[in-house]
Amino acid sequence: MPPSPDIATINQGVYERPGLARWYSDWTTLWPVEEVIFAATASQWQGAKVLDIGIGGGRTCGFIAPDAGSYVGVDYSRTMVASAQARHPGLDLRHGDARGLTMFADGAFDFILFSFNGIDSVDDADRALILAEASRLLRPGGTFVFSSHNLDWSGNGRFVADMLRVTLSPSPVRTAKAFARVLVRARNYLRARKAYVRTERYMITPDAGDEFAAPHYYLGAAEAKRQLEAAGLEHLQTYDWTGTPVEAPPDTGSSSLYYVARKP
Ligand SMILES: C[S@@+](CC[C@H](N)C(=O)[O-])C[C@H]1O[C@@H](n2cnc3c(N)ncnc32)[C@H](O)[C@@H]1O
Repeated sequence: MPPSPDIATINQGVYERPGLARWYSDWTTLWPVEEVIFAATASQWQGAKVLDIGIGGGRTCGFIAPDAGSYVGVDYSRTMVASAQARHPGLDLRHGDARGLTMFADGAFDFILFSFNGIDSVDDADRALILAEASRLLRPGGTFVFSSHNLDWSGNGRFVADMLRVTLSPSPVRTAKAFARVLVRARNYLRARKAYVRTERYMITPDAGDEFAAPHYYLGAAEAKRQLEAAGLEHLQTYDWTGTPVEAPPDTGSSSLYYVARKP
């Protein structure tokens, strides 16, 4: 069997695309679940030392940085960092890989955020490295917030139908473009699908976002909790995408889940 492709490298290439950076920089609002979590954890990040990982086009920066005591944002895509810098001149936004943030000292932060499923861009071993880094970088009592694709979501099986969907238009040019998009998606999907992995704990499969070019990691809430604990972090709460606490996993209604954890 050939070795599985390195999904962090594939996804880094996807996130370096200028068109995708522009797409991410157009997002200006928080997800409902983020509004709930940022309000619930306000005492943990306001006036505190905040690290924002995987900032993309800078969507979260403007919500957190003004009220943080200090704020640094990192991303492993230089294109994304440049895009976020253009949007937020004056903020400390740097190139950095969540798997090894050696430029920061142990316990340097009170609050770490890795929003919108950015942690799912790497494979199982690299994910453990990222969780270990979050644990190392937090001071005791510090908070880690991140989200992940939900392996238990009932819609996961609809990916191929989503990929093939064409929106017909009265305009022949628009309809032709819609068909061309399906071809691009199908090509992306077939490439990204080479990284497919399914185990009892997780799955790696092309994400419907980013035109199916990016293979992403999916896990359920119980496995996320286990991984946090393995990294020395205490799981506090899981939320669905509306911001409702998930009390009894598995949750099948939400395509992604947000997690709040604490360094004991
Ligand atoms: C889905 S985008 C989300 C962007 C932004 N957080 C938002 O919510 O709009 C994921 C981001 O995580 C970044 N990322 C993925 N893996 C990373 C890693 N190992 N280290 C740093 N950034 C990473 C990607 O480059 C990308 O910008």
